[in-house]
Amino acid sequence: MTSIHKPVLLEKTLKYLINTKQGVYLDCTLGTGGHFKALANSLKPNAVLIGLDADPSAIDYCKQNIQIQQKSIFVNSNFADLQRTCFRIGYTRVNGIFMDLGLSSFALDNPNRGFSYNHDGPLDMRFSPETTENAEAFINSAPVSTLNRVFKEYGEEKHSNLITKAIDRERKSQQIKTTRQLANIITNSIPSPFPIKIISRIFQAIRIYVNKEIESLKKALSQSLNILDKNGRLVVISYHSIEDRIVKQFMKLESTDCICPPDFPICQCNHKATFDILTKGPITPTIEEISNNSRARGAKLRASKKITGNK
Ligand SMILES: C[S@@+](CC[C@H](N)C(=O)[O-])C[C@H]1O[C@@H](n2cnc3c(N)ncnc32)[C@H](O)[C@@H]1O
Repeated sequence: MTSIHKPVLLEKTLKYLINTKQGVYLDCTLGTGGHFKALANSLKPNAVLIGLDADPSAIDYCKQNIQIQQKSIFVNSNFADLQRTCFRIGYTRVNGIFMDLGLSSFALDNPNRGFSYNHDGPLDMRFSPETTENAEAFINSAPVSTLNRVFKEYGEEKHSNLITKAIDRERKSQQIKTTRQLANIITNSIPSPFPIKIISRIFQAIRIYVNKEIESLKKALSQSLNILDKNGRLVVISYHSIEDRIVKQFMKLESTDCICPPDFPICQCNHKATFDILTKGPITPTIEEISNNSRARGAKLRASKKITGNK
């Protein structure tokens, strides 16, 4: 289950995240703990590291396999609740918040989780078993308009109409239950002789929908403002243009004083900047990193520093 690859954008992550070597750091997306362990190795023994993951198997894995010299706390929780989770375990302020969004390679490689079209498995795709609607339920019962919107919006797929129609035809005759079944329906519905990229985009779109990834990200970003200490850092790695846009716009908004419409003669909003953006544009991996680790492809890192005290 361990990843043989170096964590994505590791040096840049540590460079932007660490502002004190003895603070409290929150890794919201623990996975197999690659970034978490490297962070611990860069901090003093009296630092505290908190690791969250919505996937209980990631938490079990890290509990069994990660020993660090600092105090570590692993919590099976969605980062959409990060403020409440931190309060519950006794931390009201942290010095760094890190998110490496998306899916871990060990979840992707497990056929029973249904994330991959490379293996046949049940159409599940939930990070957490507590999520009520899995991919099978979504594919077989969502209205046609919802399927189409999800494929267009989250998959950025131009053949979404054709694919939606094919799924709707198939599900009227039999339940779509497996990843192979779905991949075949997609392949047979499109004119392209190279369906892999299209299948991958549709699987990604379903995963984002099932796990409410966009809603969770928005909630986590807004709560980060409340628990980051002054000088604390927010570092986010995203792999999808929608997520990157949300992170970019959030950091831009929170680093701006007045956000009134430009034609207002005087400020009515009283909005004050909370962040200083540390990365002028997104930080991306080198060609060398991508050739050593294809997972790094498409990664974009953005970082900000909190410039005010706690709200
Ligand atoms: C790309 S992996 C992280 C890899 C990790 N940085 C490492 O070095 O091993 C993303 C992880 O975030 C988790 N995750 C995704 N969305 C989440 C959410 N809303 N709340 C908590 N965990 C989430 C996934 O279950 C997955 O384990």
